Amino acid sequence: MLSGRHIVLGVTGGVAIHKAVDLTSKLVQSGTSVHVVMTHHATRMVTPFHFQTISRRPVVTDLFPEKPDWQPDHIALADQADLFAIVPATANIIAKIAHGIADDMLTTVAVAIGTRCPVLIAPAMNGHMYANAVVQENLSILRRRGFAVAEPEKGMLACGYEGTGRLQSVPRLLEQIAMLLTRQQDFKGKRFLVTAGPTREPLDPVRFISNRSSGKMGYALALAAAQRGADVILVSGPTSLESPYGVVRLDVQTAQEMHRAVLDEAKHADVVIMAAAVADYRPVEFQQHKIKKTEGNITLTLERNPDILQSLGQAHSNQIRVGFAAETENHLENARRKLENKQIHLIIMNDVSRKDAGFEADTNEVTILAHHRDPIQLPLLPKHQVAHRILDQVLELL
Ligand code: CTP
Repeated sequence: MLSGRHIVLGVTGGVAIHKAVDLTSKLVQSGTSVHVVMTHHATRMVTPFHFQTISRRPVVTDLFPEKPDWQPDHIALADQADLFAIVPATANIIAKIAHGIADDMLTTVAVAIGTRCPVLIAPAMNGHMYANAVVQENLSILRRRGFAVAEPEKGMLACGYEGTGRLQSVPRLLEQIAMLLTRQQDFKGKRFLVTAGPTREPLDPVRFISNRSSGKMGYALALAAAQRGADVILVSGPTSLESPYGVVRLDVQTAQEMHRAVLDEAKHADVVIMAAAVADYRPVEFQQHKIKKTEGNITLTLERNPDILQSLGQAHSNQIRVGFAAETENHLENARRKLENKQIHLIIMNDVSRKDAGFEADTNEVTILAHHRDPIQLPLLPKHQVAHRILDQVLELL
C-alpha cells in the first residue's frame, strides 16, 4: 500500500519531532518516497541534513531557495503528493493552515495542496494547549474540510505534565497513512463484525483456562476491513494489542460473553469473521475463593460452551460468515467438515502447531476453503497481507 507512493511530510518544531524521524525511516523502508518540508523552528531541533539522509532526498525549508530549475518547490511538491502529513503539528501550524496563512514554505505547500490529496494532521503539544478552545476550533475547521486528525494520546508529556497531547505512536501513524492511501474503498457501506483473541474461562478468582491466541490475525482483519471503508466492530478477548485505528472495540472475557456480544452485533452485520479462539469448554463451577492445594489430585469438570459461529449460521441467512479452523492434523479434512457443519461461506485453515504461523506469530500461512471451489493456498505472509487476501475472497462472495 505504501510502496511507490509519494508522501509530503511537513515537520514542525515540537519535541515529538524524533517520531517524525522514525516515521520517515519506516516509510522509506516500505518503499515510499518521502519529501520532507521543515519549518525554521523544526530545523533548530533536528537538522535538515538528518532528514535528508534518512529520506534520501533534499529537504525543503525555504520559500525562495537559490536553485537551478525554474519550478517553485511548493508547486512541484503539491503536484506529486499522494498524501500530505504534518508530524508533529504544533498549535501554530494548525492555526495557520485552518486560516490559509502561507508565510513560509510548509504553510505555502499546505495551501498549494489544499484537499487535492488526503491530509493527515498529527497534533502534539502540552495538554493545556491542546485543550484550548482556539486549538479545538481550528482542528474542527480542518476536520470539516476533510483533513484527518491523528488524535493525540493521553500520557506523560515532555513538559512534565500528564494529559492529552502526546503524538501518536509511529505504528499508529503508519496505519492511518496506509488507510488514507487506500483509495480502494471496496467495503464502503458494509458492516463487519470481527472477533479476535482467546477467551478466558475462570476457575476461581485467580485462575482461568485459556489458549495461546494473541489476537493478531483478528486485529489485522479488523484494521484491513476499516482501511477498505467498512464500519467495523471488533469483539475482542483479552489481548495485549492496541485497538486498530477506525474500529469500534468491545472487550469480553469468556466464551459466553463473546456469544452474547456477537449475537447482539451480528444482527446488523453484512460480514461476520470469527477469528477468535473460543474455548470449547468452561469449568462447571466457579469457585468464589482461591482453590487451595491438598495432598491428592484434583479433577476439573468442564461443560460445553456454545458454538458461536454455528449459532449464527442458524439465525442469520443473509450475511457472509467466515470461520477459522485451527488444526494440528488432517488439516483440510477437518476444515472442510467445519465449513459444512457451521453453515459458513469461507473457512481459513491454519496449522497452529507451526512456530511461524497461527497462534502468536506475526506471519501466517493459510488455506482458504469455500463451497464448490478448489482451496486457495497462500504462501507464508505477514498477517496484514493475509487479512487483505481473505477480504478479497469475502468481496467476491458479497
Ligand atoms: N468457534 C465458535 N465457537 C466455539 C468454538 C469455535 O464460534 N465455541 C469458531 C471459531 O472462532 C472458528 C471456528 O469456530 O472460527 C472453528 O474453531 P476451531 O477451534 O478450529 O474448531 P472447533 O469448532 O472448536 O472444533 P475443534 O476444537 O474440535 O477442532
